[in-house]
Amino acid sequence: MGGMHIRSSGGAIGAKITGIDISVPVDTPTFKQVEAALDRYAVVVIRDQKLKPAQLAAFSRLFGTPQINVRTEGNHEDVPEVGWITNVTRDGKPLGSQDAGRYWHSDLCYLAMPSKLTILHSLEVPQRDGVVYGDTNFAGMAAAYESLPEAVKRRLQGLEAANSYRYMWNRKAYDFGARKVLSEEELEQYPEDAVHPVVRTHPSTGRKCLYVCEGYTRRILGIPEPESEALLQRLFSHAVRPEFVYSHKWRVGDVLMWDNCAVQHKASFDYAPPLRRVMQRCTIEGSAPQ
Ligand code: SIN
Repeated sequence: MGGMHIRSSGGAIGAKITGIDISVPVDTPTFKQVEAALDRYAVVVIRDQKLKPAQLAAFSRLFGTPQINVRTEGNHEDVPEVGWITNVTRDGKPLGSQDAGRYWHSDLCYLAMPSKLTILHSLEVPQRDGVVYGDTNFAGMAAAYESLPEAVKRRLQGLEAANSYRYMWNRKAYDFGARKVLSEEELEQYPEDAVHPVVRTHPSTGRKCLYVCEGYTRRILGIPEPESEALLQRLFSHAVRPEFVYSHKWRVGDVLMWDNCAVQHKASFDYAPPLRRVMQRCTIEGSAPQ
């Protein structure tokens, strides 16, 4: 290949890498450049890859420990750390998660050790009459935090919030109908809420990042409920202001990586069968947010 090339999207986040092949083992200097690009741009796409699930898992493992998604029915049958994100069915059943990314969120923030990195590989991208559908939208959480008024930053200092998979589940079931409504007892099979700082410090860059999201953050703790609700609604809308957002337009063969401390994301559901969207995803465990 002609050598690796990294090009910024021109916005606060987002970059494109060309000229590498990650289906084979990546040497250390190349890997270090990819890591540095992630710290700098937070969302990075490597174009033109064709990875089998085991190759996607092997590349992902360079970044740390893979996580097995709690929704096990969407995990790949042979390589469980790879999850299907797709609207297609097999034998009449959904092949993988059909409603991942409906709300703005940071991956696995409902766990004590959330994902530091997500890697999503596109196998089929919905397209009609030359128009590509199913973009993924990202919002930069360092820029979002830095642009908050000083009084709000002071109010957020030291606050923690509950991030809840169980709370998300039935909301998604009622809002979109792609999953079954579960009873309180059934929800207990899923993780308990995780308590994390509302503002966390990025473990590599040291930048402060807003760490609440409409998908999973249920409640700011230690303050009255109405104040928690008002503050969360304000932060949710501030976090995704257009100036912080990069929208990724997919091509088949993209390997899109994002830093879950530095960004939150949301998928676009602007397509439906017969258009097909088929992706495979790995997430890598991070440290406890500080
Ligand atoms: C996700 O939220 O991880 C999925 C994003 C997407 O399908 O665009």
